[in-house]
Amino acid sequence: MDWGMKNRIARIIKPDTGHTVMLAVDHGYFMGPTSGLEQLDKTVNPLLPYADTLMLTRGALRNYIPPDTDIPIVLRVSGGTSIIGNELLHEGIVASMLDAVRLNVAGVAFSIMVGASFERDTLLGLTRVIDEAENYGIPVLAVTAVGKDMVKDARYLSLASRMAAELGTHIVKTYFCKGFEKVVETCPVPIVIAGGKKMPEKEALTMAYDALQMGAIGVDMGRNIFQSTSPISMIKAVRSIVHEDATPDEAYEIFIRGNKKSR
Ligand code: 5RP
Repeated sequence: MDWGMKNRIARIIKPDTGHTVMLAVDHGYFMGPTSGLEQLDKTVNPLLPYADTLMLTRGALRNYIPPDTDIPIVLRVSGGTSIIGNELLHEGIVASMLDAVRLNVAGVAFSIMVGASFERDTLLGLTRVIDEAENYGIPVLAVTAVGKDMVKDARYLSLASRMAAELGTHIVKTYFCKGFEKVVETCPVPIVIAGGKKMPEKEALTMAYDALQMGAIGVDMGRNIFQSTSPISMIKAVRSIVHEDATPDEAYEIFIRGNKKSR
């Protein structure tokens, strides 16, 4: 692994803790103006001082994030379907590696859909992105998407995560589940968890804590932060778990205190 790849990975996964708080705001590539991201800059820019990395599309980056912002970017490079289409998450490459280099990103993200009728397209798409990214020393985050009729259990998530790692991805983003420790122990590359649909803040914080305890190196969380009643308090609370070994109760106290102040 060359210096550039190591340096980019170190910009994503902080060396002092080996963990990361990745703020995910890439939802617009298939959900459009999802709740909380209607005016992405207004919601996201105040959160950036508390995020280690920002995951988003090239359009969101160019149109909403000031170029003098000092935050490592993980660029969403897969897409091609929408929530109203009939093949959600049958994704292909929607941004070139040359554009990723132009945008000075620290990493790129591509979704696979293991188990779908079109799984092969997504898996070959991932390997093409990995091959191109390796040429530029850019790490790839494989996102194990889960279809609405699929089960987010340890067996499935372990299969999808291990396949992504075997195909050469550098980091896996998957979901927390019962028996998550199995997903971690069978995957040879670092795992971050997505937050998933909005849930009560205490539940989201407990999920993040449990995932870290079972071996995740961090979170790639979006809706549970930017749809919170107090996004800044929530990302601070998540940070306390990821980087300061806070318990869910301690983290929730940080959220509550901040939430009261922001009212
Ligand atoms: C959307 C994504 C998001 O990056 C991922 O799901 C994390 O966001 P959230 O915590 O809102 O689930 O891949 O397709």
